[in-house]
Amino acid sequence: MTYEILARKWRPQLFEEVIGQEHITQTLKNALTSDRLAHAYLFSGARGVGKTSVARILAKALTCIKGQGGNPCNKCASCIEITNGSSVDVQEIDGASNRGIDEIRNLRENIRYLPSHGKYRIYIIDEVHMLTLPAFNALLKTLEEPPEHVKFIFATTEPHKVPVTILSRCQRFDFKRIPLLKIEEQIKRITKEEGIKISDSGSSIIAREAGGSLRDAESLLDQVVSFTGLNVEDKQITEVLGIIDRDLTYKISQAIIDGNSKLCLEIIDEIYNYGYEIKEFYNEIMNHFRNLIVSMISQDSSQLIDLPDNELKETKKQAKQAGMERLLQSLNFLINREVDLRYTNNPRIALEAILLKLSGLREYLSFDELIKKIEDIEKRLDKSISTEHKKSFEAAFGDKEYPTKETPMDDGKKWGEFLHYLTTKNRAMANILKEWKPYKFSENRIELPYRERSFTGSYFNDPEHYEQLVAYTQDFFQSNIKIVFKKQNDPKDLKKSSGEDRLPEPLKDIIDIFEGKIVKES
Ligand SMILES: Nc1ncnc2c1ncn2[C@@H]1O[C@H](COP(=O)(O)OP(=O)(O)O)[C@@H](O)[C@H]1O
Ligand SMILES: [Mg+2]
Ligand SMILES: [Zn+2]
Repeated sequence: MTYEILARKWRPQLFEEVIGQEHITQTLKNALTSDRLAHAYLFSGARGVGKTSVARILAKALTCIKGQGGNPCNKCASCIEITNGSSVDVQEIDGASNRGIDEIRNLRENIRYLPSHGKYRIYIIDEVHMLTLPAFNALLKTLEEPPEHVKFIFATTEPHKVPVTILSRCQRFDFKRIPLLKIEEQIKRITKEEGIKISDSGSSIIAREAGGSLRDAESLLDQVVSFTGLNVEDKQITEVLGIIDRDLTYKISQAIIDGNSKLCLEIIDEIYNYGYEIKEFYNEIMNHFRNLIVSMISQDSSQLIDLPDNELKETKKQAKQAGMERLLQSLNFLINREVDLRYTNNPRIALEAILLKLSGLREYLSFDELIKKIEDIEKRLDKSISTEHKKSFEAAFGDKEYPTKETPMDDGKKWGEFLHYLTTKNRAMANILKEWKPYKFSENRIELPYRERSFTGSYFNDPEHYEQLVAYTQDFFQSNIKIVFKKQNDPKDLKKSSGEDRLPEPLKDIIDIFEGKIVKES
C-alpha cells in the first residue's frame, strides 16, 4: 500500500470539516444557500490554515447540483473531478509560476467560453500576490466586467502585496492561525483514526511546533511516524524533530530565577550535547520569560499564551514564585543581550556568559545599568591615571588658546538633545555626561566641569574617549565645536561627612555611581 501523506488524506471536503475558520465557512454557506455570491473572493492567511481547502469546497459547492445546505455532495462527477484536480471548469493556477501577462491573457481568452457542465467556470489563483504588474492590470480588466459565468478565488499569504485596485473588487476573508488546542485535537483525531499511538503530551509537542498551521502539524506527524512507526514516544518526537525539551526550558528558567549559575551551565551543556541550536534555545528562554510575565498580568492568559492547560498552570506557578520585578529584569536583560548571540561563532560560550551574568545578579537595579556600572568600576580599579596621561590631557584641554565667541545656546535643551543622541551612539559616555551640566555652552565651545578625583572625571583622560566625544559633538551640532574641561571642586565633597571622606577612592566612586550612602560602618 502506498502511503498517502496525511495533509492530503485529511483535506477537509465539507465546510464543517474546516477547523478554526468558522467565521468564513459560515458566511460562505449562507452566501451559497441564499445565492448571494461575489464575483471574486480573496482568501488571505498563513500557510496551511485552509485557504486552498476552502477554495475547493467553494468551487465544488458552486458547481454541484446535488449539494445541500451550502455544502457540495462530493459524490457527483463534477465534485469528484474537482477533488481530483481534473475538472475543466475549475482551474487552479499557481500565481508563483504563472506570473506573467501571457498567462493572464490566456486566462482572459478562456473565460469567454461557457462552462462545460454547471453554471460556472472557476479560477483559483494561488499566491496571487506573485503576479507581475502587467498581469494584475490585465486581471483587473476582467474583474471590472466579469462575465456572469465566471468566479475568481484568489489566495495569498501576503495580502499587502496585492494591489488595492484588485482588493477592492474582491470579497475578502482573512484566515486565522489555528489555535494550539484545536491543532492538538485534530492530531488526536487523526492518530486515532490512523491507528497511531501517541501520548497527549506528544500531540501537544507536535501541535506547538506547528505554530498555528495544520498542514505543518500533519507533516510533522508524517515525519515522526515515518521514523518511529505506529508507536510514537515523546522522546522520539523531540529527537526526530530536533525540538528542545520543554522541561529544559522550565529548568533553566528556574535556575535563572534562583540564581543557580552552576545549574545553568549544566543545562547549557546538555543542550549543546544534544546538538540543539543554541540560538533557538535562547529564543525559547525569552519566549518563556515573556509567557511568565503575561501570565501574571492577564487573568485569562490562555488568550495571550498559546500553551496547553497543564503547562499554563505550571507557568503561572513559576511566575508567582519569581515575582514580577525579577521577571521583567530578566526579560529585559535577555532582550538586550540577544545581539551577543547574533554575531558570535561561539554561541555556547556567549550563552554561558549571558546566563552567568543573569543568574548571578539578583539586585533590584536594572541589570543593564548594573553591569555597566560594575564594568565601569572594574576599569576604575584597573588603571589609575598615569602622569603621562595627565600631561597629554592638560595639553589637549588647555583652555587658553580658544577665545570664546559668546553666543549662548539654549543650553539645557540643546544639551539634553545631545545627550539623547549620544545615548544611541555610546550609552556609557552618555551616562557619565548626564551628571555634568556644562558651565558654558556656545556655538563653538562647550565647557564641562571636570572633577579630577572622581572616576568619571578620568574617563575623558583617555584620549580615545575624548576624541570620540569631540566627534559626536561635531556630528550632532554640525560645527567645529571645542570641548574644554574645567577643573572643579566637587561640591559633593564638601557636603560629605568626615566619615565618608576617610573612605578609599574606589569605594567613594561606588557610592557615587550607585547614588548610595553609608548607612553603617563596621
Ligand atoms: N482549517 C483547516 N481544517 C482542517 N484541515 C486543515 C485546515 N487547514 C489546513 N488543513 C490541513 O492542511 C492541508 C493543507 O491545507 P490548505 O488548505 O492547502 O492550506 P493553505 O492553502 O492555507 O496553505 C489540508 O489538506 C488539511 O489536511
Ligand atoms: Mg494553499
Ligand atoms: Zn456534487
